[in-house]
Amino acid sequence: MLRQLCTSVLFLLLPVVFAFQPGTPTAFVLVGDSTTANGTTVNSGGWGNGFCGSSYNNTPSSLAPDTPCINTAKNGATTGSFVADGSWNISGSWFHHIHEFTPNLPLLVANIQEQVAAGRRTLVTIQFGHNDMKIAPPESMGANLTVMVNQIRTLGAEPVLVTSLTRRTFFANGTIQDLLGPWADETILISQQLGTHLIDLHSTSITYCTKLGPDASHRLNRTPDDNTHLNTNGTIVFGRMVADLLNASFPNELPIIPNPGLTYNETNGIPSY
Ligand SMILES: *[C@@H]1O[C@H](CO)[C@@H](O)[C@H](O)[C@H]1NC(C)=O
Ligand SMILES: *[C@@H]1O[C@H](CO)[C@@H](O)[C@H](O)[C@H]1NC(C)=O
Ligand SMILES: *[C@@H]1O[C@H](CO)[C@@H](O)[C@H](O)[C@H]1NC(C)=O
Ligand SMILES: *[C@@H]1O[C@H](CO)[C@@H](O)[C@H](O)[C@H]1NC(C)=O
Ligand SMILES: *[C@@H]1O[C@H](CO)[C@@H](O)[C@H](O)[C@H]1NC(C)=O
Ligand SMILES: *[C@@H]1O[C@H](CO)[C@@H](O)[C@H](O)[C@H]1NC(C)=O
Ligand SMILES: *[C@@H]1O[C@H](CO)[C@@H](O)[C@H](O)[C@H]1NC(C)=O
Repeated sequence: MLRQLCTSVLFLLLPVVFAFQPGTPTAFVLVGDSTTANGTTVNSGGWGNGFCGSSYNNTPSSLAPDTPCINTAKNGATTGSFVADGSWNISGSWFHHIHEFTPNLPLLVANIQEQVAAGRRTLVTIQFGHNDMKIAPPESMGANLTVMVNQIRTLGAEPVLVTSLTRRTFFANGTIQDLLGPWADETILISQQLGTHLIDLHSTSITYCTKLGPDASHRLNRTPDDNTHLNTNGTIVFGRMVADLLNASFPNELPIIPNPGLTYNETNGIPSY
C-alpha cells in the first residue's frame, strides 16, 4: 500500500520535476540512411521513428509536443546518392517533376529553410556510413559530409554529426563484429575539423548491445536475422539513445522529454524488451 502510494506520488511528480521548460523554439531535421529512416509500415524504420515518434509504428515521441521533427533519411542512401537523387536539394523542373510523382518526398533543403524561416533553432542530424562503406573509402564520405555541414550552416541551421548505429552481429566470444568503425572514426574526424556537435551513436550502441548480448540485441532487429534494421522496440530504444545523447551534448537546451525508465535501462545495460 505504502509502496503503491509512493509510486503514484513519484509518477505524479516526475512530469513536474523533469518537464522541459519551454525555451527557444527548436526543430529537428534528420538526414541519413535506413537506420535513421521514417518507417511507415509496422516494425520498420530507423531510430528516427523512436526519436520523432510515429503513428504508423505506435512509437511515442522523445520530444515535447509541437516540436517539428522531419525525417528525410532514405533507405539505401549514401552521402553521394542522397544528393545525386535529389533528396538533398533540387530546383527548377526537377523539383516539380519529383513533387508531381512523389508528393510526400521530404526534400532536405526545403524543410530546413521552412523551419529556419519560422524562427526556429533548427538542428540537422546527419548519419551515414552503412551504405557508404559498400562503395568507397571513409574519406569519400568525409568529403561529402564536409559539404553537407557547410551547406546546412549556410542555411542558418546547426549540423549535428551522428556516427553509425551499430549492426548487431556478434562473434562467438560475445564481442560485436564492427565493420563500421572506420566510417564512425571519419565522422568524428569531420566533426572535429568543422567544430560540429557529435552524437557518438556507434560507440554508445556498441556498448549497450555488448552488455545486452546477442539474444536481447536481436530482439530489437526488424527480423531476427536482420542485424541492420530495427523493429518497433528497436526504434524506441535507439531513438531514446539519440535523444539522451543530444541532451548530453546540449544540456537542457533542447525540448527532449525524459523517459527515466528507458534511460536507466540503457545506461545500465539492461534489456527493455
Ligand atoms: C513519416 O511519414 C509519414 C507519412 O508520409 C508522415 O505523416 C510523418 O510525418 C513522417 N514522420 C516524420 C518524422 O517525418
Ligand atoms: C561522395 O560524393 C561524390 C559526388 O560528389 C560521389 O561520387 C561519391 O560516390 C560520394 N561518396 C559516397 C561514399 O557516397
Ligand atoms: C540548393 O540549395 C542552395 C541553398 O538553398 C541553393 O543555393 C542552390 O541553388 C540549390 N541547388 C539546387 C540544385 O537546387
Ligand atoms: C573475439 O573474437 C573475434 C573474432 O574471432 C576476435 O577478432 C576478437 O579479438 C575477440 N575479442 C576478444 C575480446 O576476445
Ligand atoms: C538533460 O541533461 C541534464 C543535465 O545532465 C539533466 O539534468 C536532464 O535531466 C536531462 N534531461 C532529459 C530529458 O534527460
Ligand atoms: C526496463 O527493463 C525492465 C527489465 O527488462 C523492464 O521490465 C522495463 O519495462 C524496462 N523499462 C522501460 C521503460 O523500458
Ligand atoms: C516489443 O516488445 C513487446 C513487449 O515486450 C512485445 O510484446 C513485442 O512482441 C515486441 N515486438 C517485437 C516486434 O518483438
